[in-house]
Amino acid sequence: MIQSGFLGHRNFLWLKVNAALVLAMLAGYVVDQPIGGRNGGTWLGYAYGIFAALAIVYLTWFAIRKRSYYSTAGTVKGWLSLHSWLGIALIIVVPLHCGFSFGLNVHTLAFALMVIVTLSGIWGAFAYVALAPRIESHRGGVKANELREKIERLSREIGELAPTCGEEFERAQKSTKPGDYRNGVKILFQSRPQEPDRALLGRALSSLPEAERPRGEALIARIGERYSAASQLYDESRVLAMLRVWIFIHAPLAAALLAALAAHIIAVFYFR
Ligand code: HEM
Ligand code: HEM
Repeated sequence: MIQSGFLGHRNFLWLKVNAALVLAMLAGYVVDQPIGGRNGGTWLGYAYGIFAALAIVYLTWFAIRKRSYYSTAGTVKGWLSLHSWLGIALIIVVPLHCGFSFGLNVHTLAFALMVIVTLSGIWGAFAYVALAPRIESHRGGVKANELREKIERLSREIGELAPTCGEEFERAQKSTKPGDYRNGVKILFQSRPQEPDRALLGRALSSLPEAERPRGEALIARIGERYSAASQLYDESRVLAMLRVWIFIHAPLAAALLAALAAHIIAVFYFR
């Protein structure tokens, strides 16, 4: 599953590239024996710090680059793969940058925020890999807008048919009428569409006079169709809403990291 998702993009290309990079940087760290000990202020420390800072700017720029990676499969999927593995690699690169020296200061605040962003990123990546396949429209199925149109059309037809089929049908159609599933996080507080009570509908059908049965059957078929379209729309909208909520955590944390990083760089240049 992970292999087919963005993390395993092109046979784990970006995992391999970042692992090679981290190993090379580790080797550099071990070989380098600066006078005064390893820290962010040696030439190697500066090089690794600048690398990490540029990587963070690049990772944040992703907010502009991305948007709907599955629909433009290939390109953005590759970017997201690099995004994830580079973010994880930084967890090792930054301690190498500062010679594993941490304290209660703005420098360590930047590192701590980076770790939190990365952890939230890992959580989100798992959510994407697990949830994205559930969104049929990502797999070339029916899009949410088409589902909405279908539900509206069915509701119109049901609204016309139901009153001519008696009170029981009218009640059944009302109780299975789906909510208004718009885009947005509101869906997380809405309940799932109610499944039609097939036994009740069957009884209602058999109580209809022979001549009206075809109309009753058509109505039952439409109620069933509306239910499955509404369930699909509901499930997909919920997945999208959950991912949206997660982005609202990951992205502001990334912004806070950028601010702390700017403070760190200003602090080391002006206040040392
Ligand atoms: C342009 C990029 C960067 C430059 C020029 C830079 C510079 C420095 C310098 C000169 C030090 C040594 C400070 C001292 O010993 O007093 C240092 C330490 C440190 N840097 Fe950076 N840095 C950069 C990027 C980063 C990044 C991206 C992070 C993490 C997100 C980071 C986290 C730290 C930490 C945790 C320390 C150790 C602070 C301590 O000893 O308490 N740095 N950095
Ligand atoms: C320092 C590390 C990181 C930074 C600064 C960062 C920053 C960002 C930003 C700014 C976005 C775009 C948010 C938006 O849509 O507005 C994003 C999206 C994302 N990031 Fe990160 N990220 C980092 C690490 C990671 C890691 C380690 C992973 C996974 C292992 C990850 C997974 C994701 C995913 C799955 C998305 C959503 C892509 C989409 O919506 O299509 N991130 N990240």
